[in-house]
Amino acid sequence: MERRALPFYEETRSKTYAEWDILPLLDSWGENVIRRSEKSGKKALITGVTGQDGSYLAEILLAKGYEVWGMVRRSSSPNTTRIDHLIEDPRGEDVRFRLVWGDLNDASSLNHILRSIGPNEVYNLAAQSDVKISFDIPEYTGDITGIGAVRLLEGIRENGLQTSFYQASSSELYGKVVESPQSETTRFYPRSPYAAAKAYAFHITRNYREAYDMFAVNGILFNHESPRRGLNFVTRKITHGAAQILAGKLDCLFLGNLNARRDWGFAGDYAEAMWLMLQAEQPSDYVVASGETHPVREFCALAFARAGLPLSWQGEGVDEVGLGPDGDVLVRVDPRYFRPAEVDLLLGDPTKAKRELGWEPKVSFMELVNSMVDADLELLGVKALEPQPSTAG
Ligand code: NAP
Ligand code: GDD
Repeated sequence: MERRALPFYEETRSKTYAEWDILPLLDSWGENVIRRSEKSGKKALITGVTGQDGSYLAEILLAKGYEVWGMVRRSSSPNTTRIDHLIEDPRGEDVRFRLVWGDLNDASSLNHILRSIGPNEVYNLAAQSDVKISFDIPEYTGDITGIGAVRLLEGIRENGLQTSFYQASSSELYGKVVESPQSETTRFYPRSPYAAAKAYAFHITRNYREAYDMFAVNGILFNHESPRRGLNFVTRKITHGAAQILAGKLDCLFLGNLNARRDWGFAGDYAEAMWLMLQAEQPSDYVVASGETHPVREFCALAFARAGLPLSWQGEGVDEVGLGPDGDVLVRVDPRYFRPAEVDLLLGDPTKAKRELGWEPKVSFMELVNSMVDADLELLGVKALEPQPSTAG
């Protein structure tokens, strides 16, 4: 019987990535500058390759000599801006990076891709990853972010593949935290349809490890950011918002809960941890975090100060405002961005990942804030007014 060809992605080579480039950050990050190395002979499949993490992971794996397959879902216009710089002509020789059509809600596409490629490692990064939006599309979020994981696991099992599996689990699992800091032994308390879906994916991954002796692991990753972060997430919304204000495209940035605290790190460092987990002797679940927590208000103050717009805060609750150097209101609270149930505080304990995997983050919180602001200023073609020390609260 003739075998079905893989559903190859027809690349459009839009090359818009240059606009997103963040070489200063990559330089400081060090070894992750994209380069060719000897073939490792290993094949990896990344779902969610067009997302923030997928783009960094693809770079890391290519630098390690992997043949990387990225699964892309159909959209009405190309959404490959984060990976355009990696896309190769699929007709060329020695192609190391290939894209293929598939969707986490389509088990037949997943089975076909898995069977045809036979990857040594699968990284399941695809998800409806927006916590706030998960309250609006809870069923869809459950299907993709939750059930999507078991579709992949079953595909690996049914095809009899010897494949290591990474599941992108989340600190959102801790939700209404029962202890701080949160570690691998902290009880979960999901607070959103997104977190509930991630809880299913976490447990089914662990279940396949125990039931079928699969090398299947969860990385419980705390928030990680970068200049490639989606514009809806608070860090990027802030850094892009500050740049838009400087560019005269925005008068005032509206935010939600300024008191929420997050443990923020750099996405490239966290993608490295994903790879390390699949190289361990034994499969296990790991927390990946910076071990620091900061309120949204502080991130905002630091970012605006970097842009030369130091803020002073006045008022409380929904009336709180951030005033710029000229006394203009540059930041306001809009309750529309509040969530039906909030995760107030996240603070991770990465001791196990450091001890067992030798993982160490290379980018500090301040470097992260600064590089995100700098990248957005460059993107919008504006300069910081005059960097000022922050009045962070
Ligand atoms: P992201 O930027 O939102 O990327 C999500 C990726 O999933 C995109 O490539 C998206 O494709 C893809 N996707 C969405 N629905 C899909 C579907 N039905 N079928 C196939 N692909 C689909 O997320 P991220 O920040 O890179 O995060 C990566 C993973 O880690 C996610 O699972 C997220 O939940 C998890 N996580 C993230 C963090 C964090 O702080 N970033 C922390 C913990 C866990 P399109 O480009 O077409 O939309
Ligand atoms: N998005 C957003 N927009 N969040 C805001 C805003 C705003 O205007 N104002 C305040 N926040 C607060 C949110 O209420 C939340 O407490 C915090 O900022 C962080 O929100 P997000 O940046 O949207 O991220 P998240 O923590 O909900 O989820 C991210 O991290 C998770 C890991 O903990 C996502 O990447 C998830 O996919 C990931 O699992």
